[in-house]
Amino acid sequence: FESAQSEKYRPIYHFTPPTGWMNDPNGMVFYENTYHLFYQHYPDSTVWGPMHWGHATSENLIDWEHQPIAISPDSLGYIFSGSAVFDVENSSGLGTSENPPLVAIYTYHDMEGEQSGKSDYQSQAIAYSLDKGATWEKYDQNPVLPNQGIRDFRDPKVMPWTFSDGKKGWLMTLAVSDRIQFYSSENLLEWKLESEFGQNQGAHGGVWECPDLIPMTAPDGSEKWVLLVSINPGGPQKGSATQYFIGDFTDGKFTPDDQLIRWLDYGPDNYAGVTWANTPNRNLFIGWMSNWLYAQVVPTETWRSAMTIPRELSLFEVDGTLLVKSAPAEETLQLRGSSFELDKLQSNLPSEAVEITAEIEDEEAFSILIENEIGEKVLITRDNGLVSVDRSLAGNSDFHPDFAAVHSAPMSWEANSLRLFLDASSLELFINDGEMVITSTLFPTEPWKKIRFSENLSTIKLHNLAEIN
Ligand code: FRU
Repeated sequence: FESAQSEKYRPIYHFTPPTGWMNDPNGMVFYENTYHLFYQHYPDSTVWGPMHWGHATSENLIDWEHQPIAISPDSLGYIFSGSAVFDVENSSGLGTSENPPLVAIYTYHDMEGEQSGKSDYQSQAIAYSLDKGATWEKYDQNPVLPNQGIRDFRDPKVMPWTFSDGKKGWLMTLAVSDRIQFYSSENLLEWKLESEFGQNQGAHGGVWECPDLIPMTAPDGSEKWVLLVSINPGGPQKGSATQYFIGDFTDGKFTPDDQLIRWLDYGPDNYAGVTWANTPNRNLFIGWMSNWLYAQVVPTETWRSAMTIPRELSLFEVDGTLLVKSAPAEETLQLRGSSFELDKLQSNLPSEAVEITAEIEDEEAFSILIENEIGEKVLITRDNGLVSVDRSLAGNSDFHPDFAAVHSAPMSWEANSLRLFLDASSLELFINDGEMVITSTLFPTEPWKKIRFSENLSTIKLHNLAEIN
């Protein structure tokens, strides 16, 4: 952590690449007590370029160990986003029954094909590991799902699936321009189109990317299916954002419950997030904490971008409407070092990495002001049914005209508690343990030093997150 902290804006407890460019989280899979996180990575520059899958592992979702690059571009193209599964029964035949493989399913992006005007430059391919994810071999008959003549055809998210006749297999959720396609397979190698969803549903201000289909239990005990779809541009705060649908998935077909447009996070900086594979009974999510509007020009020097903290997704209900809540994963409690309860409504910050917890006494309105010594500030407010984060005076912002802004979210229901995570270049606000979330990157010229609370916040605790290790 010491070396990390010596670099301006380098987060203390958020995942960042060692150097170079990072975007989407990829291939997250839990296997033999290890969480694997792969990510879109260009190691040779701090802007987007020939995509690789970078790799890191963790046993607790908090301490990450960098691993060698897992998958590198080749003559078929760049390695775009995708997922990974544990093929426990060796359905693919890529391992053995004694040593079944981890299988990654990713998109090949043929850059030359795109530049020469072809439309079939994206296809789905496979790589596998027989040594617990340490090294990856590409399948020798890639691609496994060739392009069907549609330009945007990418980001396969694969999960175990049972066919209607009870046979076990796999389901791929794929982003295809302005819709989602679902494909099924018995062996991860041959794929059959089951259905399409979305051309007339949801937000369409940009291309659909990085989907995820997640079975969840509603508060009334029924099973619901949540379909995450990232969209760029066209998010509620400009640029990229993740929308989701709630419905049923039967016989290979997704049917939404209603026509509502729902957003997973009302901040500007949570994109392309999906959930971990092979974590029974948990929907563990991580997102890319940036926005394509300005991701490539933010003022960090040796690397660009961080991931969000890990979050746990579940369903809750407001006035008869189901919504997804994103709570900080319980593992984040491990970050807490010394904690103290504030007896005043203002405090100095002990470090750049803190978590603040508070109860909200009057559900109508509250505010939190975070400042540094040179007058830069971030203002968080809740008033008139809106939660807002104002980063318009939060320091460095001249790198992009849309960065300095107020981001507001509609919250009509009671706010009872909050958790606020600050790191060297970000803020994550969770109200009611994630019923409302705003994630924002921040680039103050000097570190944040002071925090002030409105009177209706109580039991305010400050947890120093910069003390572990
Ligand atoms: C989303 C995305 C994906 C694509 C990847 C390329 O941020 O555009 O659709 O696979 O980034 O790096």
